Amino acid sequence: MKKISLIKSLFFCLLITACTPAKEKPLSEVIEEALAAAGQQSLRMAQQLAGQDSVLPRSFINGEMVVSNSGWWCSGFFPGVLWYLYENNPTPELLAYARQYTARILPEQYNTHTHDLGFMLYCSFGNGYRLTGDTAYRNVLLTGAKSLSTRYNPAIGLIRSWDNTNGGKWQYPVIIDNMMNLELLFYASRESGDPRYHAISISHAGKTKEQHFRSDFSSFHVVSYDTITGAPHVKQTHQGFSAGSSWARGQAWGLYGYTMAYRETKDPSYLEQARHIAHFLLSHPHMPDDYIPYWDFDAPDIPDELRDASAGAIICSALIELSGYVNEALSGEYLAVVEKQLRTLASPEYTAEVGENGNFILRHSVGHLPGNSEVDVPLTYADYYYVEALMRYKKRLTE
Ligand code: GLY
Repeated sequence: MKKISLIKSLFFCLLITACTPAKEKPLSEVIEEALAAAGQQSLRMAQQLAGQDSVLPRSFINGEMVVSNSGWWCSGFFPGVLWYLYENNPTPELLAYARQYTARILPEQYNTHTHDLGFMLYCSFGNGYRLTGDTAYRNVLLTGAKSLSTRYNPAIGLIRSWDNTNGGKWQYPVIIDNMMNLELLFYASRESGDPRYHAISISHAGKTKEQHFRSDFSSFHVVSYDTITGAPHVKQTHQGFSAGSSWARGQAWGLYGYTMAYRETKDPSYLEQARHIAHFLLSHPHMPDDYIPYWDFDAPDIPDELRDASAGAIICSALIELSGYVNEALSGEYLAVVEKQLRTLASPEYTAEVGENGNFILRHSVGHLPGNSEVDVPLTYADYYYVEALMRYKKRLTE
């Protein structure tokens, strides 16, 4: 009799243990481990390309490393990753590599043929200046801001994104991504005291708010303006599924862009815009439970469509910042999403083993699916915004 009840108790104990979910690792530990792994992986990347002058990592496709020169819009992201990792773990080795890869972007300060100078220079030299106060970096940033400002046309009130006219279909193309480049201009006015860059930024952000967004606060990718009237004449996409669709990374750029514009100006209309974009994203019926979006919210075969880790990482980093500008309830809502995103991106589903994935940190991003370019691959900007999000949340947890 005694033996039977002992067996019964043991059986119930086993049953209870099996049915109790394993305790989740605290998010702070997930973040520490993710940053440590990112540090190892990025050092390997830095060592791998150290001997190739002027080269920056871009992707890893079919087992081949894809690199770029400094003129590619993504050139500043890897130096930016190194700066964040140096901020997390200030070793002389990380500092030396961060400086070495940042120096590779130097020629771009004079580039007047792209709107992407904010991405290229602010992620690299901007983080470098923030962490070292090196005045040579400051000078590069100010020269870059001057170059970028040459792309502003006061009659239109916007910075031109691309020189390319798409075979004459676009007169003055502006893409939602361009919001991100305003961060360099806001900085330049703050740093130099010259109000022109700030004025350009608020003109660009204001007109983009009027013209790029639909009534549900989703955004078009490309809006081209008539150079005589300054009015939009075409609204369409380049990297999304269709003109009327919501390309995931474009929505992410908008969210991040207006959150940053609010930080820089304290204009409540930018905060409102960022909150509306967040609402569109977080309540979208096609947003997956882990909040890593499909590459386009209107892609035709959801749920059998690819996810875009880069859009997930950008949204995550933006929501961490935005959560600091809203009431407690909304802040809690955003941070619950952030937690899911970080746990997902830090899991083996997205984070590569150290030494794999061409030494990029994350897998599964989508660059330009309609162009069949960089589809389901690592991308250097996914890594940048992921590491930025890890650092932003780490600071939030220790504040
Ligand atoms: N800024 C280009 C892209 O997001 O693909």
